[in-house]
Amino acid sequence: MPFEIVRNDITKMKVDAIVNAANRSLLGGGGVDGAIHRAAGPELLAECRALGGCDTGDARITGAGRLPCRYVIHTVGPVWRGGASGEPAALASCYRTSLRLAAEHRCESVAFPLISAGAYGYPRDQALQVAVDTIRAFLQEQELTVYLVIFDRDSFQLGSALYRDIAAFIDDAYAQAHSDSSAEQRRRQLSESAWQRAPLAAPRPAAMPAPQPFSDRSLLDAIGQIDESFSQMLLRKIDELGMTDAACYKRANISRKLFSKIRSDVHYKPSKPTVLAFAIALRLPLPETRDMLQKAGFALSRSNKFDIIVEYFIAHGRYDIFEINEALFAFDQPLLGG
Ligand code: APR
Repeated sequence: MPFEIVRNDITKMKVDAIVNAANRSLLGGGGVDGAIHRAAGPELLAECRALGGCDTGDARITGAGRLPCRYVIHTVGPVWRGGASGEPAALASCYRTSLRLAAEHRCESVAFPLISAGAYGYPRDQALQVAVDTIRAFLQEQELTVYLVIFDRDSFQLGSALYRDIAAFIDDAYAQAHSDSSAEQRRRQLSESAWQRAPLAAPRPAAMPAPQPFSDRSLLDAIGQIDESFSQMLLRKIDELGMTDAACYKRANISRKLFSKIRSDVHYKPSKPTVLAFAIALRLPLPETRDMLQKAGFALSRSNKFDIIVEYFIAHGRYDIFEINEALFAFDQPLLGG
């Protein structure tokens, strides 16, 4: 999964590079800066001293001392002064220059904290938006695995209106799933009692020839009529929509490696988040999403928060996988992609 939001302490991340939200002196501080220097040990500070500081929006790279990664990329975020002093551009530059440094040093994975969202006072939902938008733009051009590491629950804020809307949709779906099951129970009781009263061999209307039971067909011709596989439907839809493979798997937050596996195996068995990631990338309406899930052996459930949140976005025609993953993360659900 090229972009993932995870809850963790960034000093524990086993990636090629972690990014430090430093200050212009690069001589350490509190927050994530302090945590990284404590975990790395004194050699990190010694290396930083030699760098002679760093401007806001820029980034520098050092070794990682005792940390479980190869590099630390030190970047200096803007202090929030209301948003009209170039803060968004400076913050975007922090992510961009850090990603560029990681790519130049042949990193395959990099982990970011939410830069400026702590002591520097950047509103968290806006800091998150800048982070996601800048990382997404970079991943359109480069292959890299990027983690956004959220250290504490309240430093992750989904827009409250969206959060409330999704929570209400979840409640309705749960309520409906419950009423459906009681309606379903009533229907089953009715049909069982009706079945007991009806003649044993009720004739089928001529218009609907009885499906040939498997027992009447040879196994060979039954297998010969096997349905289109998930992989076949995916490739057919990519062609029908005139998309390139790369455009599709990047929009699905799927790695090129995983896509190649799916493309080369007509019977590939994907995970449910992978199927839904492609349904989002292809902007499939709900019926086709259900069809694609069914080909992989899954179904959308109304008693599963993950399914309901994805259904919410499809039902509202919102196919931005990064936005959906922020919502899934906010509700402690697995993310879309693979
Ligand atoms: N792992 C991941 N994220 C963390 C960790 C950690 N161990 N510790 C804190 N964070 C998160 C905070 O919750 C916040 O969301 O990092 C984000 C950035 O907060 P700060 O560390 O305060 O960084 P910032 O807001 O950019 O301010 C930088 O603070 O520590 C000083 O020297 C630093 O002067 C600089 C300023």
